[in-house]
Amino acid sequence: MRILLFTGKGGVGKSTVAAGTAALAAARGLRTLVLSTDAAHSLADAFGVEVGAEPTRVAPGLHVQQVDAQLRFEQSWAEIQGYLLSVLDVAGVDRVAAEELAVLPGAEEVLALLELRVHALSGEWDVIVVDCAPTAETLRLLALPEALGWYMERVFPVERRIVKALRPVLSRAAGVPMPTDTVFDALQRLHDELDEVHALLTGPESSVRVVLTPESVVLAEARRSLTMLSLFGYRVDGVVVNRIFPDAEADEWRAGWVRAQRSVLAEVRESFAGVPLWRSLYRAGEPMGVDALRELADEVYDGSDPLAVPAGRGPFTVSRTAAGPVLGLSLPHASLDDVDLARHGDELVVTVGSYRRLLTLPPGLARHRVAAARVQDGVLQVRFEEETA
Ligand SMILES: Nc1ncnc2c1ncn2[C@@H]1O[C@H](COP(=O)(O)OP(=O)(O)OP(=O)(O)O)[C@@H](O)[C@H]1O
Ligand SMILES: [Mg+2]
Repeated sequence: MRILLFTGKGGVGKSTVAAGTAALAAARGLRTLVLSTDAAHSLADAFGVEVGAEPTRVAPGLHVQQVDAQLRFEQSWAEIQGYLLSVLDVAGVDRVAAEELAVLPGAEEVLALLELRVHALSGEWDVIVVDCAPTAETLRLLALPEALGWYMERVFPVERRIVKALRPVLSRAAGVPMPTDTVFDALQRLHDELDEVHALLTGPESSVRVVLTPESVVLAEARRSLTMLSLFGYRVDGVVVNRIFPDAEADEWRAGWVRAQRSVLAEVRESFAGVPLWRSLYRAGEPMGVDALRELADEVYDGSDPLAVPAGRGPFTVSRTAAGPVLGLSLPHASLDDVDLARHGDELVVTVGSYRRLLTLPPGLARHRVAAARVQDGVLQVRFEEETA
């Protein structure tokens, strides 16, 4: 099963390209689902049909779904939220304020991605295309379970046992309700399921495509998301430059745009060196409906296979060298000055600008110390040495 994610700045054409790619896959006879986790229901508008919160058939082999993020949020978070509300109530926090506090910002979007897990497990699809919300931040949040790994494995079960044993005493003494088993269950389940989704999306059959328009501001953001996506283990296997002005007989206004776009296009090529670059012209109208969307995608991929599984190594590698094992982490556009490394138990904490990832080291490296680090050709290389006692 192939999973393709489309991300990019607001309004650049993510939904259009995602829908078109899905239409291409379905036309090949593959059972295809395209889903959006965005509250703005633009997939339905692009296909020009009514689409519900369940997969809706829009063409042979092609289904569309707009995940009801609010509903998923309530389902996954209800138990935990209920507990938080009871604590806040005892703490004297006003009910309305408490309800606001018990909602995690950005969580809806992440929880909507849980839908992906259900579909992946169902075995009903050959291709799943995800039309992401206008920022890649969501994908970063999926690494949360990994960051909590140490806590969830070591501290959480202990805490759970202690609370269970002392619940009656503690509740009476502190006057604060102690979380019940169902709250712990809900937390554990949420953690495990999010972890599975992250594993699915960073797996060998998944990849992310960045959609952009040839404008400096858009490119700047795309460059940042390339670094961020790589840091969190996602593999970017294509860039779609959308809404390129056709270079024809032009008045001064259009000629100006053509020139400006051409120069940004050159920068895009440089910024995404090594990643296939696909293009799509600015059409005279909005591409709507299955046929128009498929035509656009046909132009985008221009004969190359839109479903090709990305070749080469993933963003995270470990190789043995004479000087010791070297961990490689693809970090395009980062220099060693931007990167900060720290060791925390069997985890390596990699900070790049405002992003931080806790990488659980493979067992072979857990008892090694960091000997040296450098960034070469967009890859962070960390050399390890056996710990000498
Ligand atoms: N190549 C193109 N030529 C002409 N119009 C286009 C092209 N690509 C997209 N559009 C139009 O641009 C608008 C925005 O596209 P789309 O909804 O796909 O962007 P998006 O990145 O998904 O936006 P959002 O961030 O709001 O989700 C739509 O009206 C769409 O029909
Ligand atoms: Mg969209």
